[in-house]
Amino acid sequence: MTASTGRTLWITGGGSGMGRATALAAAARGWNVAISGRRAEPLTTLAAEITAAGGTAFAVPLDVRDHAAITATARAVTDRFGRLDALVLAAGQNSPRRRWEDQTMAEFESILGTNLTAVAAVIDAALPALRERGGTVIAISSYAGWTHQGGAGVAYSASKTAVSSLIRTLNQQEATHGVRACHLCPGDVATDFLQQRPEVPDAAARAVMLSPEDIARTVSFVLDSPPHVRIDELVVSPVSQA
Ligand SMILES: NC(=O)c1ccc[n+]([C@@H]2O[C@H](COP(=O)([O-])OP(=O)(O)OC[C@H]3O[C@@H](n4cnc5c(N)ncnc54)[C@H](OP(=O)(O)O)[C@@H]3O)[C@@H](O)[C@H]2O)c1
Repeated sequence: MTASTGRTLWITGGGSGMGRATALAAAARGWNVAISGRRAEPLTTLAAEITAAGGTAFAVPLDVRDHAAITATARAVTDRFGRLDALVLAAGQNSPRRRWEDQTMAEFESILGTNLTAVAAVIDAALPALRERGGTVIAISSYAGWTHQGGAGVAYSASKTAVSSLIRTLNQQEATHGVRACHLCPGDVATDFLQQRPEVPDAAARAVMLSPEDIARTVSFVLDSPPHVRIDELVVSPVSQA
């Protein structure tokens, strides 16, 4: 574990999957990590694991569909560490009901609220601090945000496609403050997220997918690139993916 560099990373969806792996990898490289998600227990367990290994972690439960709570959490993170250098936006939602014939508008709004509006809201709350540091934003989008995926779902596809647009406007408008952003589009990753598929992949299917650690390694590459280097978009696939 590298001693703290003072650099601070806030991760939404930090308690599991890619967000969790990213937190562990960043903390090992000396980043202070703030981790958010709805469930407190995975966050406190992960924070304890990072602290026991000599790192610095701050568990901040948050439902990203609650915009007032986002503002309060951004303040709590900057109060705790005195700075904010980067965001990894990994909180995400899908549903097994992915077709016009079985989706509900309530679920549609929740998916858009989690995958799209919350991405904008967290960036909006964090931008003043990010501008001070020339910060980095990494949105964990999806293959479905890169190119159309027929099975990804009406709401999910719409939300992730629009994340690409958010990242492009961020890069276009905030480069003057040294802010840089990456639209990161993973293919299949073996995480709990697969439980939301209409047909949940079995162990053999998961074995050939990417691991959360594969994505954490990619995030590390983007985060640790020199400040003048922007990685606008990255697509990361398991070799097995059709
Ligand atoms: N797995 C894949 O194949 C795959 C492929 C491409 C893209 N992605 C994207 O990758 C991202 C990370 O997913 P993952 O695969 O690592 O799965 P995951 O382990 O299920 O992670 C999703 C995280 O989002 C959090 N979350 C969900 N709704 C939230 C809310 N309203 N407020 C705050 N946090 C919320 C969850 O924590 P709580 O339940 O505690 O809130 C969880 O930690 C997602 O955005 C997903 O769309 C996944």
